Amino acid sequence: MENSVDFERLLEEKIEKTEACINKYLPREEGPAKKLAQAMGYAMQAGGKRLRPLILGESYALFGGRGRIAEPFMAALEMIHTHSLIHDDLPALDNDDQRRGRKATHVVFGEAMGILSGDALLNYAYEVALHSFDLAEGSGEVSRVVLSLQILAAKTGLYGMLGGQSVDVDCAGRAADKEMLEEIYLKKTAALLEAAFMIGAVLAGATAAQIQGMEQAGRKFGLAFQIQDDILDVTGSEEELGKPLHSDEKNGKTTYVTIYGIEEAKTQAEKLSREAVELLEGMGQGDGFLPQLVIWLLTRKK
Ligand code: IPE
Ligand code: IPE
Ligand code: MG
Ligand code: MG
Ligand code: MG
Repeated sequence: MENSVDFERLLEEKIEKTEACINKYLPREEGPAKKLAQAMGYAMQAGGKRLRPLILGESYALFGGRGRIAEPFMAALEMIHTHSLIHDDLPALDNDDQRRGRKATHVVFGEAMGILSGDALLNYAYEVALHSFDLAEGSGEVSRVVLSLQILAAKTGLYGMLGGQSVDVDCAGRAADKEMLEEIYLKKTAALLEAAFMIGAVLAGATAAQIQGMEQAGRKFGLAFQIQDDILDVTGSEEELGKPLHSDEKNGKTTYVTIYGIEEAKTQAEKLSREAVELLEGMGQGDGFLPQLVIWLLTRKK
C-alpha cells in the first residue's frame, strides 16, 4: 500500500483521465435543442467526484481489462448519476438550490429544463453505452456488453436507484424504521455503485462468482457511502460539500444520523467499508487501489 500523499496524487491522475473520458461523450451544445444540451452539459461539467466511473474503470483493470470497451459505460454511469442529482434537487423532491458548488440546474435553466435535462441525460446514457458494441471484438465481448447493459438498466430503474428515490420521497415527513431505511439506501445509492463495481468486472471477463463478489462489495460500500452522506449533511461544510447542509432535516428525512446518532453511524460506515475491502482484497490481480479508495473515502469531506 502506498502512503496517503502518493495515493492522493494517483487518485488525482485517475480522476483526470476519468474526466477526459466523460468529456469525450458529452452532447454537442448546438441545434434546436441547444438549451437542453447546455443544461445537460452544465450539470455534467459542474465537477463532482466522478467516483462511479472511476470505480467502473478500476474494476475493469482489477480483472485484467486493458482495452477501451469500459469507457462508454464509465461516461454513461456518470450521466445516470448526474440525472439522479438534477432530479433529486427539484422542488418536488429535495428542493435544494445548490449542487456541486454551483446553482442547481433547475435554478439556472428553470424547472422545465431541469426535468427535461434529467430525462435527457438518463436516455443519453444508454445512447452512449451502446457505443461499446462498436468497440467489442468478437462475440465474447459482445455478450459482456449485453450483460453490462442489463446490469446498468436494472440497477438504475424501478428495482434500483429510481425505486429507492421513490421510497425515500414517499417516507419524507414520517418515521422510517431501520429495515426500511436500509432498503432505501441499498436502492437509491448502493445500486448504482454496485453497477460500477460489477460492470467493470463483467467487461473484463470476470467469472460469475467474481461478479457476485463485486456486487456485494458495491452493496457494502454503497451503504457506507450514503451513511457518510447523512453525516456530512449535518457536520460538513457547505463550501466543501458544494450542496446545502441540513437538507435531510428540512425535508423531514429519517437518516442513519437521526436513528443511530453520529458516532454510531460513523462506526457502521467504517465496519461496512472494512467488509467491502475484505471482499475486494480477495479478488483479481489488482494493485490495491480500489480497497485503498474505499478506506480513503472514510475521511471524505465532500
Ligand atoms: C451524491 O453522490 C448523492 C449520493 C448518492 C449520496 P456523490 O457524493 O457521489 O456526488 P458527486 O458526484 O460527487 O457530486
Ligand atoms: C440521494 O440521496 C441519492 C440519489 C439517488 C441522488 P440524497 O438526497 O441524500 O443526496 P444529496 O445529499 O442530495 O446529494
Ligand atoms: Mg434525496
Ligand atoms: Mg438530496
Ligand atoms: Mg444527502
